[in-house]
Amino acid sequence: MKPNLTLFLFLVSLTVVLLINVTATASDYIRPAPRKILQFPWSPKHSFHPQQVHISLAGENHMRVTWITDDNHAPSVVKYGTSPGKYNAVAQGESTSYSYLLYNSGKIHHTVIGPLKDDTVYYYQCGGEGPEFQFKGPPSQFPVTFAVAGDLGQTGWTESTLDHIDRCKYDVHMLPGDLSYADYIQRRWDTFGELVQPLASARPWMVTQGNHEKENIPLFKEGFASYNARWKMPYEESGSSSNLYYSFDVAGAHIIMLGSYTDYDEYSDQYSWLKADIAKVDRERAPWLLALFHVPWYNSNEAHQGEGDNMMASMEPLLYAAGVDVVLAGHVHAYERSQRVYNGKSDPCGAVHITIGDGGNREGLAHKFKNQQPEWSVFREASFGHGELKIVNSTHAFWSWHRNDDDEPVRSDQVWITTLRSSGCIAEKSHELKKILTGP
Ligand SMILES: [Fe+2]
Repeated sequence: MKPNLTLFLFLVSLTVVLLINVTATASDYIRPAPRKILQFPWSPKHSFHPQQVHISLAGENHMRVTWITDDNHAPSVVKYGTSPGKYNAVAQGESTSYSYLLYNSGKIHHTVIGPLKDDTVYYYQCGGEGPEFQFKGPPSQFPVTFAVAGDLGQTGWTESTLDHIDRCKYDVHMLPGDLSYADYIQRRWDTFGELVQPLASARPWMVTQGNHEKENIPLFKEGFASYNARWKMPYEESGSSSNLYYSFDVAGAHIIMLGSYTDYDEYSDQYSWLKADIAKVDRERAPWLLALFHVPWYNSNEAHQGEGDNMMASMEPLLYAAGVDVVLAGHVHAYERSQRVYNGKSDPCGAVHITIGDGGNREGLAHKFKNQQPEWSVFREASFGHGELKIVNSTHAFWSWHRNDDDEPVRSDQVWITTLRSSGCIAEKSHELKKILTGP
């Protein structure tokens, strides 16, 4: 292919992609004023200096430490221990990097440490030098608390949400997609990494992908290159072949992270993996079953109506038969909580669906709900905020949503949730589950 033809094709592709992006964000609902995008003045760092440090769960009693260095010779080593400044263990990891048009990433280090004691504070150093970080690993038994916020971005509202999450006592952060809103500008991935580092280096951040992570350019760049390089999740540890879907366990909860932007039909790899993952879950050991993905299936907001329908048609029967207790989604920039629901109607053996795509991104809120509130919809409001799921024991959990109004976290919705297992639904559906799991 001649160079000028290549350039022409590239420009056409880029124009199409940008047009699609603009069309997708322009809509007929009214959003209140978003807050300003945060400014990140450039500050030169020592070439081995660890940047954008975050941690994530990596299989039983293990944690993955991720950081970036400007220098390609920096080692992927983490020293760690349970006392400040005393590192009696060391782990060697791997590294990667990527290029995106004219941008070249730094060296992205991923180092798994462990086995670790549960519910214990660890002190660690990335690359064998530089500042000390610390984290607390999750407990191995209830109670356990999850903080949840989707569609974060990096605005004044994001700052407010992160501040509120930082004030709550939580063990693991879960993010149902749309992290940095880099949207092809790779430097924004770096500033997002710096913005979340104070929280994400101290508690595991478990994320799944949204549309803003895709960043594909037809003929030139496949999707999720930056996301997969920077936010490696425990997909290998959970038997998945893709970073876009995986699962993990915390205390007595099994959490399934699904991909709204990869194949999900009954013949897809994701669906096969989901069946295999569910078949392995022992509800004696994991009485709570949660699922996260980006595009909500139950949504009475005008925004993104029907976008989750195909995935729902394919996967809802399996999640229902498996007895998923709570589904957390993002994408719609508002909050909504359902009754237990299945197949479009309230059902005592269905999941509680919660849309929480209101972390604080630059696009603002999805302000317009449908006039008629569906019978399954319990609470809906367009405000920025975050959620907290405190699983108290093997039967009871307390969910609360905290909106950011006036820069204070105001608890605006709350509910006690009891497990499907305790209400007899799991036993009732075991035959149906077996049929799906053993089906073609
Ligand atoms: Fe989204």
